Amino acid sequence: MRFTINGRQLAAEVDIRTSLLDLLRDHLDLTGTKKGCNQGACGACTVLVDGERINSCLALAVQYEGRSITTIEGLSAPGSLHPLQEAFVAHDGFQCGYCTPGQICSAIGMASELERGIPSHVTEDLHAETIELTSDELRERMSGNICRCGAYNGIVDAISETFGARSTKAEARERAK
Ligand code: FES
Ligand code: FES
Repeated sequence: MRFTINGRQLAAEVDIRTSLLDLLRDHLDLTGTKKGCNQGACGACTVLVDGERINSCLALAVQYEGRSITTIEGLSAPGSLHPLQEAFVAHDGFQCGYCTPGQICSAIGMASELERGIPSHVTEDLHAETIELTSDELRERMSGNICRCGAYNGIVDAISETFGARSTKAEARERAK
């Protein structure tokens, strides 16, 4: 199978039943993406496919041939950090760090959903072109990413600073890329 991962063309000979998560970790040595529950309940395995966030443990790798996959390793150039990664450091958005790659990829996917006006369970105006990242929106939209260390206060602060009202829309759009 052939994949585009973090802008690189990669090929792997794997069993057709291999999950995208196992492909990344076990066959391509991209171990930044974490395996928590392996059943879609914790969000540790979140990656971006064509900018959309998905749980890679629930996806078969074969489904994503030819799609553009981004993992935590591909969010910024080597030696630099994505603005959201910097914010996680600044706000102590982690303790053990196991959930962090999934939190960060998920938040970037979430910011893109807000920009495109995709409503959540708590969105009041279902016709808005873009949706503001309120505290309720953030908590609802990130509810699929569990942090067993309970670093939620720092996580919320980091995401709010990067994608919230204090960021301009253009900045938020740029950071969601
Ligand atoms: Fe995929 Fe938990 S490892 S959701
Ligand atoms: Fe340890 Fe979130 S920082 S699970």
